[in-house]
Amino acid sequence: MNALPPADRAIDLAMASASESKNYIRSRWIQEINRRRVGHDSGVLYVTLCGAHGLDISALIDAGVIGLTENDSIAAADAGLVVAYEKNMPAVAAVKRKFPGLKVVESDIHEKLRVGALFASPSREDKQIFRAPVINLDYDGNVRIQDGKSPFVEAAVRLAEFHASDMKSWSLLITANASISWDEDGQKWAKSFLSQYLEEELVLSQKVQSDVRFLAEDCDLRQVDFDVQQYIVSIFLPLRLADDLVSRHWLVSPSSVFVYSGGGGAPMVSWILSIDHDPSAPANRLRLLKQLPQTLMACVEDLRESGGADGSDVAER
Ligand SMILES: C[S@@+](CC[C@H](N)C(=O)[O-])C[C@H]1O[C@@H](n2cnc3c(N)ncnc32)[C@H](O)[C@@H]1O
Repeated sequence: MNALPPADRAIDLAMASASESKNYIRSRWIQEINRRRVGHDSGVLYVTLCGAHGLDISALIDAGVIGLTENDSIAAADAGLVVAYEKNMPAVAAVKRKFPGLKVVESDIHEKLRVGALFASPSREDKQIFRAPVINLDYDGNVRIQDGKSPFVEAAVRLAEFHASDMKSWSLLITANASISWDEDGQKWAKSFLSQYLEEELVLSQKVQSDVRFLAEDCDLRQVDFDVQQYIVSIFLPLRLADDLVSRHWLVSPSSVFVYSGGGGAPMVSWILSIDHDPSAPANRLRLLKQLPQTLMACVEDLRESGGADGSDVAER
């Protein structure tokens, strides 16, 4: 199943070409990691899906967050700061060769998180790792919906459960392909969920005339323009997550939402979300969830034209 060498996987080729947009997003991840580093005394600081090239790890090294020894291994003192998960075996071998000393767990992170499992609990070590203050789910796939559930959201909810032991604020970085592949039932479910909270955002952003149709029953979301799919997914995932987390006393606050074009022009979205404990969240549920779409849209940085390489010409929408 994992027979292809990493250089042949489309995702590895896309990563190796190090698009301007993705490099810009990585620079913003580093800012977020540096922010969370303050006051972080021990244990894992950053968990990531590393891929074959681990360009986010390179960026951490360039930024001086992780030190290297004279022979380019991760310095022993910093080896415990980062844990990388990777489900593709050749990619694991490649990234281990590139960063000797990096802790790489060869596994689907969803298996470790027990996404979809009712009772099984992760190991003690995994629980410690998943309490890291910055977790980067840098997926290459689409936001799927199955039986009224989205595995990416489920994984994030699991992570919040681990953070509940100390209720410290943490950052969730998520990247996903925003092209919609939801079947009829999935679309029905997503539309009914979105329509509870989206009305005000649509009115304020004057999208009522042009895009409100996407909530109509007969609109096939797989057929709408990519920028509308990107818009829907950029709101759907964090809103769905907030809907699950608010009753657990967590607030989901976006600090950045990047929309950009991935390999082959794929519509991509990348979120930087702060997850903060708020005992009053359940009491304010409706207000919080109705506000979130507008807050998300105010955080959008559209990198589709500029790439955002120097940060100066990033269009905000
Ligand atoms: C976009 S790449 C990672 C790029 C890397 N973070 C960087 O900045 O260079 C995504 C990688 O995550 C891996 N991946 C995707 N879903 C995963 C999962 N559920 N568990 C473990 N690895 C996963 C893919 O095999 C792929 O190599």
